Amino acid sequence: MLSPSLLAANFANLEAEMEWFNKSSADWLHIDVMDGVFVPNISFGFPVLKHVARICRKPLDVHLMIVQPEKFVDEVKALGAYLMNVHYEACTHLHRVIGQIHEAGMKAGVTLNPATPVSVLEDIICDVDLVLLMSVNPGFGGQKFIPHTLEKVKELRQLISRTSSKALIEVDGGVNMETGKQLKEAGADVLVAGNAIFRAPDPAKACEELAKL
Ligand code: DX5
Ligand code: ZN
Repeated sequence: MLSPSLLAANFANLEAEMEWFNKSSADWLHIDVMDGVFVPNISFGFPVLKHVARICRKPLDVHLMIVQPEKFVDEVKALGAYLMNVHYEACTHLHRVIGQIHEAGMKAGVTLNPATPVSVLEDIICDVDLVLLMSVNPGFGGQKFIPHTLEKVKELRQLISRTSSKALIEVDGGVNMETGKQLKEAGADVLVAGNAIFRAPDPAKACEELAKL
């Protein structure tokens, strides 16, 4: 599956971006919300996303790179989001937050930074619908893929089968045709890609090729 990241889109013309995107082979739209605290950057907030949600015809995959993400469950729900991803590093009471997301009627994802080991998921893996592995340090698009992520995907795949968890494996950061192929071979289910799609000469074609990996 493929979840193109809105962060690399042309913000001055989101309507035109959504026009090709809605017809593309993308499965979800990946939305990166940043707060300048959890990550050293700020992207866009709910007033902008409200309009994106109105014109996007694909399920929204919301990645919150913010502290205290539990404060925004209602806002994410109001967008009509399919999936809400929170960072393991941002949640003191992760189990409670996952419960709140489910109660709001959304799928719940937990995200790990590159320095956070897969082993921390042992006691939560059966409660989440998806694990998002960061293959760059979050905060910016267009960074270089961290190769160690491939080992983490394999380890996570083992944890999922050992525990009979239903969680999907999603990977985010520096994904292109080459790293995307390696990730799929390692066991990833969903690829996030920003620059490799929105900055390609033909974004719809780039989308189609990545979706086929
Ligand atoms: C990084 C974001 C990513 C980013 C990926 O903090 O979480 O979703 O948009 O962009 P690329 O694919 O360009 O690395
Ligand atoms: Zn992201």
